[in-house]
Amino acid sequence: MTADTPFIHLDSIEKTFSNGKLSYHALKGVNLSIDRGELVALVGPSGSGKSTAMHLMGLLDTPSKGRYLLDGLPTSQLTSDERAHWRNEKIGFIFQQFFLLPKFNALNNVVLPLRYRKEKLENPIQIARDRLADVSMLPYEAHRPYELSGGQQQRVAIARALVSNPDIILADEPTGALDSKTSADVLDLLKEINQARQTTIIIVTHDHHVAQQCDRIIQIHDGLIVDDSVSTGGSS
Ligand SMILES: Nc1ncnc2c1ncn2[C@@H]1O[C@H](COP(=O)(O)OP(=O)(O)OP(=O)(O)O)[C@@H](O)[C@H]1O
Ligand SMILES: [Mg+2]
Repeated sequence: MTADTPFIHLDSIEKTFSNGKLSYHALKGVNLSIDRGELVALVGPSGSGKSTAMHLMGLLDTPSKGRYLLDGLPTSQLTSDERAHWRNEKIGFIFQQFFLLPKFNALNNVVLPLRYRKEKLENPIQIARDRLADVSMLPYEAHRPYELSGGQQQRVAIARALVSNPDIILADEPTGALDSKTSADVLDLLKEINQARQTTIIIVTHDHHVAQQCDRIIQIHDGLIVDDSVSTGGSS
């Protein structure tokens, strides 16, 4: 879209979860703009609304109120096909628990998103192999998840997130299940991807060291952004 339209733009976003009589106001009016190529940390206490915000940005859920513009497009106007297209081809997701399919080896886990695409690609296996190589996991292509360490599984999950060449990577506690050394390696990999591909990356984290290495730290508290500042740690 136009140069002055932020890539990701949340305007007075609210989210209320209701089940029966109970309702919970998880986001209470979030205003946020993120440009292409930013590396952002989203931090805050448990239950503050971080994952809820990620799910909305990733089009996995819809806001109760407010407007979400993605690349200048009001997402409320997207058809379900268009939402699926964004989720499958333009947004990569990474989670704390990796969520690799246990019956598939690393290569087949990574190739899977390409199998769901509408337009079929000429050589999806080669693309998946290239992405495994990017995360130094090609030698493990035939291993199933249970034959890999946590850090290796997360690398495969990162390769899977990259296989569609997404514009955005949303990572919810990507280092939460890893020891500090492996966590640093995974973060370095995400930083490399951000710099090499200009992929917009948003990382939810409880880890101060992880947040400090992002360019910008957004703090959320009780459903509201309470601080949004340039990180003093820097990414390079
Ligand atoms: N599907 C849901 N139904 C009802 N309440 C929900 C639902 N999802 C989240 N909530 C509530 O919304 C609030 C925010 O949840 P969210 O998962 O966004 O927190 P979080 O900041 O990611 O926390 P954590 O750091 O523990 O992962 C919590 O109080 C949670 O119980
Ligand atoms: Mg969460």
